[in-house]
Amino acid sequence: MPTNRALITGVTGQDGSYLAELLLARGYEVHGVIRRSSSFNTDRIDHLYRDPHEPGVRFFLHYADLTDAAALSRLLHRIQPTEVYNLGAQSHVRVSFDQPVFTAEINAVGTLKLLEAIRDVQDRVGRPVRFYQASSSEIFGGTPQEVPQRETTPFRPRSPYGAAKLYAHWMTVNYREAYGLHASCGILFNHESERRGETFVTRKITRAATRIAVGLQHKLFLGNLEARRDWGFAGDYVQAMWLMLQQERPDDYVVATGESHSVREFCDRAFSRLGLKYHDHVEHDPRYLRPTEVEHLMGDATRARTVLGWRPSVTFDELVDRMVDADLALARRELTLQQAGHK
Ligand code: NAP
Ligand code: GDD
Repeated sequence: MPTNRALITGVTGQDGSYLAELLLARGYEVHGVIRRSSSFNTDRIDHLYRDPHEPGVRFFLHYADLTDAAALSRLLHRIQPTEVYNLGAQSHVRVSFDQPVFTAEINAVGTLKLLEAIRDVQDRVGRPVRFYQASSSEIFGGTPQEVPQRETTPFRPRSPYGAAKLYAHWMTVNYREAYGLHASCGILFNHESERRGETFVTRKITRAATRIAVGLQHKLFLGNLEARRDWGFAGDYVQAMWLMLQQERPDDYVVATGESHSVREFCDRAFSRLGLKYHDHVEHDPRYLRPTEVEHLMGDATRARTVLGWRPSVTFDELVDRMVDADLALARRELTLQQAGHK
């Protein structure tokens, strides 16, 4: 019987899939929360799933939702996890301007519902439950005089997403201080991979550039090309999440590479790898601008480095290249299907 049992909200997302892999490799029993959807939403974790009737299965999925306090509470009582990772969120900053209330209900109040359920189950079972909260560099807002951002940098969110994440961040800190919960916040800067959602800028660029390279499309429409982000590899960042929960004392940590690049630089690198020039294909569309933009995020991960021993292993160039290479394979498959009359 595994002694470590983890519950992950957001297991179907980019980070959830990497974290589930990491925990399973470390011998955990892993339980993931999934939402009912009319179309399949488990592509990123299908390779981990086994028929639960088979012997030795350690990965289980459960229907629940961060807006449903009763379902969360029931799940926690049934599973009695030793660690809970709260990765579930409406995670798109631009979308949060269109759906601010929905974003707050999931990202802010949803986290509070989970914290309440954990407090309750911990009291009843008499065993500590360690909690990880997916905080975000969006809570800094990125004023130019405050770069790089670290744990002590003031928070000034500039989006409904950032404000909701800041509420969840402070509630997590409050539950740690008020009730002694082993609760840690990872203030993660942007992290990407070939599993990144296709409407985030990096994946939008690598998908479009590779489709352009094989002749499936001609243009890519983007918003602000001058915004700068500190982009790392998601596989590295889930290591930091796990390390936080292995510490004797809970705390909050910035997780970042310490290097920033503009969206324009990302385009340049991605198109160049395919032998293309980005300015021949990229066009501006003001629809992708945000009412308030975060211009520059770059993190100082000294605390994570010294306390957790965490370091990123993938450079910016390596990250762009691996995303382009994965999407080129995808674009070629799409082309083959199209040529065979399947699309
Ligand atoms: P993602 O790919 O968008 O995944 C989000 C996950 O949340 C999905 O599994 C989604 O389920 C789930 N979810 C959405 N609404 C939910 C609800 N009401 N109840 C339960 N689950 C719900 O995001 P990610 O990039 O993996 O990020 C993971 C977490 O880290 C998020 O909280 C995000 O805000 C935060 N974060 C991300 C970054 C980054 O750069 N990636 C940086 C800082 C912080 P469906 O698949 O059903 O939609
Ligand atoms: N999505 C998108 N689409 N962004 C664009 C576009 C476009 O067409 N054109 C320019 N951008 C710019 C955005 O204005 C922003 O400055 C930057 O590209 C990055 O946008 P996203 O990739 O959407 O990520 P984000 O930084 O807003 O949010 C991500 O990182 C946060 C951590 O800092 C998300 O993963 C959040 O969930 C996460 O908390």
